[in-house]
Amino acid sequence: MLDVAVITATSPEGRSGANVSRWFLGRAGRREDLRLDLVDLNRIPLPPFHPGRPPSGTDGATRALAARVGAADAFVVITPEYNHAYPAVLKLAVDAVREEWAAKAVGFVSYGGQSGGLRAVEQLRLVFAELHVVSVRDTVSFHRVERQFDEAGEPVDPAGVDGAAKVLLDQLIWWGTALREARAARPYTV
Ligand SMILES: Cc1cc2nc3c(=O)[nH]c(=O)nc-3n(C[C@H](O)[C@H](O)[C@H](O)COP(=O)(O)O)c2cc1C
Repeated sequence: MLDVAVITATSPEGRSGANVSRWFLGRAGRREDLRLDLVDLNRIPLPPFHPGRPPSGTDGATRALAARVGAADAFVVITPEYNHAYPAVLKLAVDAVREEWAAKAVGFVSYGGQSGGLRAVEQLRLVFAELHVVSVRDTVSFHRVERQFDEAGEPVDPAGVDGAAKVLLDQLIWWGTALREARAARPYTV
């Protein structure tokens, strides 16, 4: 059983992001090889600036986020794309935590207009590398996301996206398990 924090950076008002998150949590929740913790960044009032580099910040919201990141073996980030990047709330969360990220795995579910969030994901790979996080190759991306869910909030191509989610989670579990075993055998120092 792998502990996976699913970190969502979706707008609280937007329907598209809610559909993506609900769909992904539903599919991932069916698996018996992982335990999910939903980290909804809209519910975490992080301070807009961080006082310094390590360790992670000391305010209550940051400490609570750091504890949840620390308890996870792997992460899935669900993100839209704004102006060819990922939203600021996500950068705030990434920067708020330091060593709790290290030597773990991350996978991405993205959505947007024409690009489906792919540019946001490529930037996130660079940012997570700085934090010693391994990003898995395959992603799930919803291009023109407003057309990808029906009135009931179900994906219009369930076979395609369910298959992509399975590949993503299989890779995440491989890396997450390997890194958990490695951390236990030999502590990773940042
Ligand atoms: C300010 C803004 C900038 C956007 N920039 C992009 C972009 O660069 N590439 C893209 O594919 N979609 C872009 N979009 C479309 C959003 O990714 C899409 O509407 C998405 O559903 C927004 O997610 P949200 O509902 O969680 O806010 C942009 C939307 C907004 C509001």
